[in-house]
Amino acid sequence: MSAFDTILNKPALSLDDLVILLRSEDEQMKLLLKNAAGVKEKYIGNKVHLRGLIELSNVCSKNCFYCGIRKGNAGINRYNLSDDKVLEAAMFAFKNHFGSIVIQAGEIGNSSFTRRIEQLLRKIKQISGGKLGITLSLGEQSFETYQRWFEAGAHRYLIRIETSEGKLYRKLHPNDSLHDFDNRLRCINDLKKIGYQTGTGVMIGLPFQTVESLARDLLFMKDLDIDMVGMGPYIEHENTPLIQFREMLLQDYKRFELSLKMIAVLRIMMKDINIAATTAIQTLNRNGREEAIRAGANVIMPNITPGRYRDDYALYRNKPVTGLNHVDDLKMIESGLKRIGHSLAYDEWGDSRRFLK
Ligand code: 5AD
Ligand code: SF4
Repeated sequence: MSAFDTILNKPALSLDDLVILLRSEDEQMKLLLKNAAGVKEKYIGNKVHLRGLIELSNVCSKNCFYCGIRKGNAGINRYNLSDDKVLEAAMFAFKNHFGSIVIQAGEIGNSSFTRRIEQLLRKIKQISGGKLGITLSLGEQSFETYQRWFEAGAHRYLIRIETSEGKLYRKLHPNDSLHDFDNRLRCINDLKKIGYQTGTGVMIGLPFQTVESLARDLLFMKDLDIDMVGMGPYIEHENTPLIQFREMLLQDYKRFELSLKMIAVLRIMMKDINIAATTAIQTLNRNGREEAIRAGANVIMPNITPGRYRDDYALYRNKPVTGLNHVDDLKMIESGLKRIGHSLAYDEWGDSRRFLK
């Protein structure tokens, strides 16, 4: 057995092992992806779960240096879906057997927003007879807010740590109390305490980020015993401060490969969690979603935001807008998955097996 094989077969991976896996290329990289595919087949199977993604609003109070919808970007149209539009999108997901939805928005922290989400949650539960699963992705909030939303029917929450390295985090965010790494950690812990299935994730291929740092991100997720992960490549956006470091970035193809390797290694480390094939990975490669599924992901989040608003949720360059209607989009996903021997699971919440244990 080669040294690389030996690492792949270890029961626990050290930081050095992870670095070697993440640096793999060509045949070794193929071996890594194949190994991860085997782990997924054994622990998860070939079913892919759906989350209908509703981008409720692109209004954000924060100024993360990488993000196209940051408060400081005056060059975009701000929107806020009406409650009716949100309910319509939720009903679309329900009727088309998605099983669950994700409600995502820029970060807003005030009492009327908290109340609005709480009411929407109750309403969605009511119109779907309690059947539609609801994940929230609404950023940093207080313990009380998380608690209220949980009681109103949300059962999963996504909040990315972006990077587990405090020093890098501070390079990517303004140095103020709104962008506090420790508060982000507090949120993840609060969510777990309340009983949410909790998801986190990082951006891959950021300026100043090293492979060692990504390896530590993986250990961070493992140590936290997280239930779900959504991670994808960093994609630069013209109207953001971080664009000044574009020369430091890996080429698109390398960033794409590194993202696949991150997914594969994570699957080997955390065999029964939910891992999403993110939109960002699809942006860098037209088969990105399928490749991510092959490398170990088991969740897809098709965008079901009403068409007119989808273009305005531009976190990064070339975020895909298919132009297709949502039903045709779903058919495309289905045929793409069929080509790689996978199928969609309909009408299921698709909870993290890790969490259920
Ligand atoms: N490239 C990739 N992902 C990004 N996000 C924000 N901006 C970018 C970007 N330029 C991701 C962050 C955030 C999520 C809403 O979108 O990880 O948590
Ligand atoms: Fe707002 Fe999230 Fe973008 Fe930061 S990453 S600016 S919190 S939407």
